[in-house]
Formats: sequence, C-alpha cells, structure tokens
Amino acid sequence: MDCWSAWHGPTRTALTAVDAALIDVLVGPGFYTGKTVRMPASLLERTHGSYLLSSDKKRLDVALIHDYLSGDSYWAAGRDRATVDRSIEHSYLVMGAYDDKGGQVGFARMVTDLATWAWLCDVFVLAEHQGIGLGSALVGAVVEHRDVVDVSRQFLATADAHGLYAKFGFEPLTDPSRWMNRSGAAAAALR
Ligand SMILES: CC(C)(COP(=O)(O)OP(=O)(O)OC[C@H]1O[C@@H](n2cnc3c(N)ncnc32)[C@H](O)[C@@H]1OP(=O)(O)O)[C@@H](O)C(=O)NCCC(=O)NCCS
Repeated sequence: MDCWSAWHGPTRTALTAVDAALIDVLVGPGFYTGKTVRMPASLLERTHGSYLLSSDKKRLDVALIHDYLSGDSYWAAGRDRATVDRSIEHSYLVMGAYDDKGGQVGFARMVTDLATWAWLCDVFVLAEHQGIGLGSALVGAVVEHRDVVDVSRQFLATADAHGLYAKFGFEPLTDPSRWMNRSGAAAAALR
C-alpha cells in the first residue's frame, strides 16, 4: 500500500523567512531559494518485500549514489560529486530503494515540467540486490507517482534494459530522425 504525505502540490509560493526555516527543518535544505520555495514532490513510500522505496530526498545516501554513478555506471562514468548533488537537488522526483537496515541499494530520478515532458534517468540497483524485482519496483514507484503519472510524454535512454522499461509502456522512438541532442562539448565549442 502506498503511503503519501499530506503536503503535496508542485507550486511555487512566496514564503516568510520563518516559513522557509521551517521548511528547511521539515523537508531539508535546498528547496528554499530567495523569496520562493520549490515545493518537493509528494512523499511516496511503499515496500517491496523487506525493501523500502521512498521519494524522500533526505534519506538519500548521495555519497553512495555518486560512487555508483561515477565508478560503476556506463552512462555517468567520472561524473563529479558537485554535478551529482546538483542533479539531485534539481530533479523533481527521486526514488531510493533501501534495505531493512536503511542502507541505500537502488536509485532513480525524474526530471519533469509536470505537464508535457519527463526524463527518467540514473536508474540502478546494486548488483547484490538485482534480479528480485527491485528495479521494476523502483521504476514503477517513479512512473506511478501521482505527481507525474499524467505527464504526457516520458523518455529515457538505455543500452540494454529495454525489457524492464517496456513493462511500464516505454517504447523505442518511432522516428529518431526527429530528435536532436546538444552535448556539453558542442555547446562549449560555440562559446
Ligand atoms: C537495470 C536494473 C536497474 C534492473 O534492476 P533489477 O532489480 O535487476 O530488475 P528486476 O529484478 O526488476 O528485473 C526486471 C526485468 O528486467 C530485466 N533486466 C534487468 N536488467 C537488465 C539488463 N541490463 N538488460 C536486459 N534486461 C534486464 C530482468 O531480466 C527482468 O526481466 P523479467 O521481468 O522478464 O524477469 C539493474 O540491473 C541495474 O542496476 N543494472 C545496472 C545499471 C543499469 O543498467 N541501469 C539502467 C540504465 S537505463
């Protein structure tokens, strides 16, 4: 059964300093910027066997996530810690998977405008916890999250896990020739 927080709604709201300080305590730092607060995703927590899946950013073991992405992943090899921090801070939705001692064993994040577009990325389950449905549970918890479930177009890129995502309705691009990509190197060359 899903457990949702009472606080939801992805709106930007003007806050007093007292409100902002309270939000830092309740939600964690990073949401308050200037006179506005970036509201976090509704908190979703569900279980998969003895594992907890949670969208709570405060639970994340960012050092572990950085170690995995920079050292073990094929898509983010060498990504520095500051980039990982920033990517998590600015991702609307994160989902962590945790063992029964609270240790992080999996992760996924979604970047989205909450209306027309979403990008699912940095999905992983540590090797010793793979093959027992945790990756599927993690992806399901993200795409079924009530804040993003109706986003009209959702994308991802994968080298070999197409079968995992196909279970949730992801399909190959019908016309890849319509798509373009602007790499950091291409942008830097134009500066
Ligand atoms: C991909 C990954 C997250 C799947 O996690 P998991 O906990 O093993 O996934 P599940 O146990 O839920 O298995 C989901 C299904 O996807 C399949 N699958 C998992 N990883 C796969 C891969 N790399 N290639 C092809 N199929 C894969 C499984 O065989 C399974 O199929 P089934 O439901 O028909 O049995 C995990 O293997 C992983 O972290 N891999 C390394 C990082 C990675 O490749 N991430 C994805 C980047 S897009």
